Amino acid sequence: MKSFNKKSSTLSILIILLIGIISCKKEGDEFKVSTYNDTESHNAGQDCMSCHKQDGSGEGWFNIASTVYDSLQLNTYPNNTIRLYTHANGTGTLKYTIQVDGKGNFYSTEDIDFGTGLYPSVESVNGTKYMSSSINSGNCTSCHGTTTGKIWAK
Ligand code: HEC
Ligand code: HEC
Repeated sequence: MKSFNKKSSTLSILIILLIGIISCKKEGDEFKVSTYNDTESHNAGQDCMSCHKQDGSGEGWFNIASTVYDSLQLNTYPNNTIRLYTHANGTGTLKYTIQVDGKGNFYSTEDIDFGTGLYPSVESVNGTKYMSSSINSGNCTSCHGTTTGKIWAK
């Protein structure tokens, strides 16, 4: 009887530890992808990945994220579409499509293979704008709104 109790309590401790480890991992790296009209994001214009990274405070570790503005670069511009192509001006292969949410932000925790570089575009109801050079990082805000103009859609 005694040894049975010992065994089952060891087992329950193991199970509790296991649940702890699994839920911790989930909390750190949740699957999060922006969708049209969604408004759960925040901090437009800020460097999302400064917090949404491994050991950061944000929920989900983003591999791509930033904010889209209108042509005056004053107000955020919701519900556009970001695309990443293997060649310039929307040519080559379309590798990724990310929906801009209802706050003008976009983000994704999915793995993004930049290969030798991918060319972004921003499409709105009024047309599409293409970045003429390629990128190797999904942190658009490291340049846009920092060393070059904000990302804006037509
Ligand atoms: C200063 C740190 C910080 C910055 C910068 C930041 N976030 Fe967050 N984010 C957090 C924290 C902390 C949470 C979890 C608590 C909360 O919801 O406020 C969070 C939560 C979220 C959530 C999940 C909300 C939910 O209810 O599940 C989304 C989506 C999100 N952030 C998107 C973004 C985007 C997009 C950017 C950049 C435009 C960004 N965040 C910038 C810290 C940050
Ligand atoms: C390494 C810095 C850098 C990163 C990272 C970056 N950009 Fe750019 N982007 C630029 C520069 C510089 C230009 C202007 C020259 C050009 O088009 O290549 C530009 C131009 C653009 C344009 C065209 C602007 C116009 O007025 O026609 C779009 C759209 C764009 N970027 C979207 C993005 C998106 C979306 C991301 C993130 C997925 C991103 N960029 C990441 C530096 C960057």
